[in-house]
Amino acid sequence: MSPVKWSAKALNAARLAVVIILASQLLGAGWVQEPVQPRIDEEFAKQEKIYRRQGARSYTANRGLSNYAEVLPTGFCDALGRLGSSNRWLDIGAGEGQALLDYYAAQDDAAPEKCGGSGPKARAVAISIEDRRTEKWKQQTASLGDRLGYLSGKRLRQYSLDELGKFQLITDVYGGFTYTENLSRFLEHVLSLLEIGGAFYTVLPSVHLEDGTDKLGSWYKTEMVDAASRPLKVCSWLRQTTCTKITCESKPNWDEPTQLIKIDKVCSGVAVPRTNVVEYTAGSPPSRRFQLER
Ligand SMILES: C[S@@+](CC[C@H](N)C(=O)[O-])C[C@H]1O[C@@H](n2cnc3c(N)ncnc32)[C@H](O)[C@@H]1O
Repeated sequence: MSPVKWSAKALNAARLAVVIILASQLLGAGWVQEPVQPRIDEEFAKQEKIYRRQGARSYTANRGLSNYAEVLPTGFCDALGRLGSSNRWLDIGAGEGQALLDYYAAQDDAAPEKCGGSGPKARAVAISIEDRRTEKWKQQTASLGDRLGYLSGKRLRQYSLDELGKFQLITDVYGGFTYTENLSRFLEHVLSLLEIGGAFYTVLPSVHLEDGTDKLGSWYKTEMVDAASRPLKVCSWLRQTTCTKITCESKPNWDEPTQLIKIDKVCSGVAVPRTNVVEYTAGSPPSRRFQLER
């Protein structure tokens, strides 16, 4: 029997059909849509160990209120000073809670802490994954009763609104915003805990600055792309969040390009455009790459 003879045109059509069938099978198997990084779970496990490290190998977890004043956006100290005794401040990723101790110490101090003033103090809550309360914390907070609380053992997302209540001021200094693998869910949760008219003050190191002033050769720990894989700046993503006013201050001359971020909640219909993590490498802080969902 003579072999079947294919014309060049028919051969090309057959090849194309094979490619289309293979591609659709790969897509159907979910290959192309999965996070790009293999073994991302191993990185999450490594990150857990980083949270639990103590002593010299631990990350910095004892920044005081004057450090917060340096790394948070302009206006943070005034906003803290405007809080009254019935208002509430939440510090996410509080570590040892030194900033809150300084805030409360200012009320009996001869030389009051410049940040937050010496007027009446708001109620405050510190949240940390691991319990980093020190002896100093225990001594200084003994007389404050339930005006100053410390919650640990869970991540922010694991607390309901009923458990935490609402806050007029929320801060995050190199805490959950810098460490989470789910940036949009984290922010959505923060904003659900914020009263309308309240503000979230945070800081993000090693990031592409909104005004493009980052120095050549900078390296980045938080990167973002849009659904079509084009580079996207974190502040551009934030500006797509409804019911918020976003203020971004750029610090190109710090050790790493750093974005200081203030988010005012202006109405109740907050919707944060979803992000998916596509790369995550454990560290303090971790390296993360996010992609916007379609
Ligand atoms: C580098 S320490 C910073 C501590 C403190 N803000 C300071 O500047 O000294 C990071 C803190 O963020 C906390 N953290 C990270 N991700 C968190 C999350 N999703 N929810 C709550 N706390 C988180 C850690 O447990 C730790 O307390």
